[in-house]
Amino acid sequence: MSPQKVIIADSLEQSLTQAVGECEHDKIFLLADETTRHACLPLIVGFDCLKGAQTIVIGATDTHKTIESLSHVWEQLGYGGATRHTLLINVGGGMVTDLGGFAASTFKRGINYINIPTTLLSMVDASVGGKTGINFRGLKNEIGVFNNAASVILDTHFLKTLDQENILSGYAEMLKHGLISNEKMWAELITMRNEKFLISHSSFKKMLADSVAVKQRIVLEDPTEQGIRKALNLGHTAGHAFESFALKKSAIGDLPSPILHGYAVAYGLICELYLSAVKTEFPTDKMHQTVSFIKEHYGKMTITCDDYPTLLELMTHDKKNTAGIINFTLLGGIGDIRINQTATREEIYEALDFYREC
Ligand SMILES: NC(=O)c1ccc[n+]([C@@H]2O[C@H](COP(=O)([O-])OP(=O)(O)OC[C@H]3O[C@@H](n4cnc5c(N)ncnc54)[C@H](O)[C@@H]3O)[C@@H](O)[C@H]2O)c1
Ligand SMILES: [Zn+2]
Repeated sequence: MSPQKVIIADSLEQSLTQAVGECEHDKIFLLADETTRHACLPLIVGFDCLKGAQTIVIGATDTHKTIESLSHVWEQLGYGGATRHTLLINVGGGMVTDLGGFAASTFKRGINYINIPTTLLSMVDASVGGKTGINFRGLKNEIGVFNNAASVILDTHFLKTLDQENILSGYAEMLKHGLISNEKMWAELITMRNEKFLISHSSFKKMLADSVAVKQRIVLEDPTEQGIRKALNLGHTAGHAFESFALKKSAIGDLPSPILHGYAVAYGLICELYLSAVKTEFPTDKMHQTVSFIKEHYGKMTITCDDYPTLLELMTHDKKNTAGIINFTLLGGIGDIRINQTATREEIYEALDFYREC
């Protein structure tokens, strides 16, 4: 994979002009979803470097991360006269950057693309690291390729229109980055008190830069997830189970709506920090501090003991596993990463007890 440039923009226009200039191109296409076309495109469409750019719009949220939307993007590129030398600029959350990245990676065997992430989750996580793709036959990110964006440009101004839940969803990934990095970063993250205040505060830009640097560093070391990239899965084995569980429950009307990815990760972190405390000596005081922070900001999704077998089943079928063994990334302390850990059914049930009772 070619290396990836991540720019924390002081001037979005300047950064984008430079990034566009670095990608030889004949035409430019912008990709947005129904929400970001109104909330985000107006912040950039007047830039000189985008003169003559054509816009492609797809439906918003993960329900549109489909082969149909992908096909629409290919079609619009084709109708608009895109060639092998055309540049695609994705303006949106992780759904747009994942799907747009995949569309660019496959159109005429691959054209250059730039990501301008507009949600906190896509800024600190989805837009960086080269994973692109779509959902297929009900399976998340089933089809896709690893291929880096030529540049990723981060501008916190986009976050002003983002709702509180989506801010918190991205913040959970930042918390994960803190936990796998160092105490200073973790302590700063868990002392946050007011999200809206935080994102408009100048120190937030620094926190964002630190957080994305964690992902970049790990991805650079292990681009295709053979080893240390698994550190980024902290909170995600149990988290994905909570996410799928909520999706099923909401489909049958037992829950009003599915839960956002970051909320599921936050709940997953509760379980996996507990497992870390029991199995790899993660300090219990730091576990309790992190858990209190999560409870205060993310509340809790209610589960009962009767749900344990379903959650366990969902963990067993997580695509990170091989041969039916549930694979966890745990911590021996903050920044002390232990990949490829397993846990027994009893230990996992205990972790779920802890989640319910904490
Ligand atoms: N490639 C990776 O490494 C990676 C990592 C994590 C997540 N992901 C993927 O990312 C996706 C989730 O990303 P997401 O949370 O950004 O979701 P999303 O892209 O669906 O965005 C969430 C909602 O916010 C809206 N939105 C986006 N920017 C906005 C803004 N500035 N103001 C107002 N509304 C705005 C969107 O239109 C959407 O309705 C999933 O598809 C997931 O699989 C990928
Ligand atoms: Zn995640």
